[in-house]
Amino acid sequence: MQIARTIAEARAAIAALRAANKTVALVPTMGALHRGHLSLVRAARAACDAVVVTIFVNPTQFGPNEDFSKYPRTFDADCALLQAENVDLLFAPQPGEMYAQDATTVVEVEQISARLDGQSRPGHFRGVATVVAKLFNIVAPGKAFFGQKDAAQVAVLRRMVRDLNFNVELVVCPIVREPDGLAMSSRNRYLSPQDRRSALILDRVLRHIQSRAAAGAIDAAELIDSGLAVLADEPDVRLDYLRIVDPDTLADLPDVERGALVAIAAHVGPARLIDNVLIPSR
Ligand code: PAJ
Repeated sequence: MQIARTIAEARAAIAALRAANKTVALVPTMGALHRGHLSLVRAARAACDAVVVTIFVNPTQFGPNEDFSKYPRTFDADCALLQAENVDLLFAPQPGEMYAQDATTVVEVEQISARLDGQSRPGHFRGVATVVAKLFNIVAPGKAFFGQKDAAQVAVLRRMVRDLNFNVELVVCPIVREPDGLAMSSRNRYLSPQDRRSALILDRVLRHIQSRAAAGAIDAAELIDSGLAVLADEPDVRLDYLRIVDPDTLADLPDVERGALVAIAAHVGPARLIDNVLIPSR
């Protein structure tokens, strides 16, 4: 596995892959890799000839009071995992390489970026869209792989790709969970054993809503209320949002008849965790 620290090195390595007629897959990450990330790498490996993974803790998508400085950085362990997955190129730049000090250009996906996590984390999706646009320009992948875990991020990036005519296919992979249901996340490392047990409530709330919907309930307000009743079992978990939305626009839906995204975000101990489930159209 080749490791590139600069944009020029990455471009040269990718040019060599292209010269060998290889199709290129991109898997963008912030590192602290777990099985969720590796599921994307495997999907990429199966779909394309060459796999490029990026590890970049992107400062522009963190708010001033968020966890940028303490975000887990486990570079050596990440490299070993990617090596074992036969990744061709790891691009791992520092912030100074990605952002000129006087950079003033951003990608703003209006409206969608102010919903769900964008409402709680102003500027977050501007940072995500901007860095992913930059990675698309540096790597020029045929396909790029993202997790359904970050459903709002997927909606923002889909809209960006469409609106700005990026020549890339977004591939969305299912949420990978721990055996007990907790969605895998780099931020699960922040949880104490007690927090870890409390965190299971997110999955329980979602499964409760999912089973009510499967049993015929369609009213969004009613479904949310029944989810909130389940959440009340864990008074230590502080809800950020529980919403039933259109998976493409992230706008609230009155009912789940035509399918819906049920998304939750909550603070558990020091961590802000997110999870979601898709309800199929009936
Ligand atoms: P990060 O949180 O490291 O996640 C990288 C990719 O892994 C994202 O597409 C995310 O949805 C996916 N992922 C995380 N946990 C997952 C799980 N349990 N199951 C399946 N996929 C999972 O998302 C980001 O980084 C950043 O915002 C990024 C896109 C890299 C831009 O900086």
